[in-house]
Amino acid sequence: MRLILLGAPGAGKGTQSKRLVEEYGIPQVSTGDILRKAVKDKTACGLMAKSFMDKGELVTDDVVIGIIEERLVDEDCSEGFILDGFPRTVKQADALEKTLDEMSQNIEHVVSLNVDKEQLLKRLSGRRICKKCGAGYHVEYNKPATDDICDDCGGELYQRDDDKEDTILERLKIYTDQTSPLINYYNDKGLLLSVDGTGSESDIYDRIKATFEDS
Ligand code: AP5
Repeated sequence: MRLILLGAPGAGKGTQSKRLVEEYGIPQVSTGDILRKAVKDKTACGLMAKSFMDKGELVTDDVVIGIIEERLVDEDCSEGFILDGFPRTVKQADALEKTLDEMSQNIEHVVSLNVDKEQLLKRLSGRRICKKCGAGYHVEYNKPATDDICDDCGGELYQRDDDKEDTILERLKIYTDQTSPLINYYNDKGLLLSVDGTGSESDIYDRIKATFEDS
């Protein structure tokens, strides 16, 4: 299965990707995670990306397209993958199509997760992540047993720099301006599956799977 998860920041792309990875045994390819690792490792790409990410802006298309082209040829992607956070512009979507054409592959489904702005703001401002193992929590919806400590590994929880309110608002604006045109782009190609992204994580997952079966 080759799948794109499309949705605004906080729509649940990462959360639902993890469930899909478990069930289908294919990797989650998250450009956000790859870029955050590059920032942490202080690579040249990471140092360049940081200034965009801190402001909630998109990293340049050429950089992100290069990252994806390198990642999709890895052995673990040969049976499929879940793209989380890529593509985010029409230029990225065109580049992805070209890359997959050259590999004689294609995208089977594009799942668009729909969540209203108020809920997106709540989800993002309350998100906490473990510094040590990367597990995700939420101060209201998915609390750790002890405040600010990871249940799994005892690591300290932190808030992503771009999960501060001003930056969240900028990310949501950029989603509307630059990424949401991809909804029509993929609808026109007959690939779009639109899913209500509100409610419990497991209800949303069931809806995603039901749309696969109906399509
Ligand atoms: P990225 O890491 O991709 O961030 P994003 O798209 O803004 O996505 P998020 O991780 O914030 O949200 P999500 O939809 O995955 O939601 P999640 O499941 O985590 O990108 C970060 C930055 O990197 C970008 O701003 C940009 O600078 C750069 N970048 C990345 N890709 C790029 C690209 N292709 N081109 C250019 N630049 C790029 O859930 C969020 C929270 O909600 C969590 O706390 C979770 O527990 C909670 N939650 C999830 N589901 C539910 C539910 N059903 N009910 C209640 N809470 C829920």
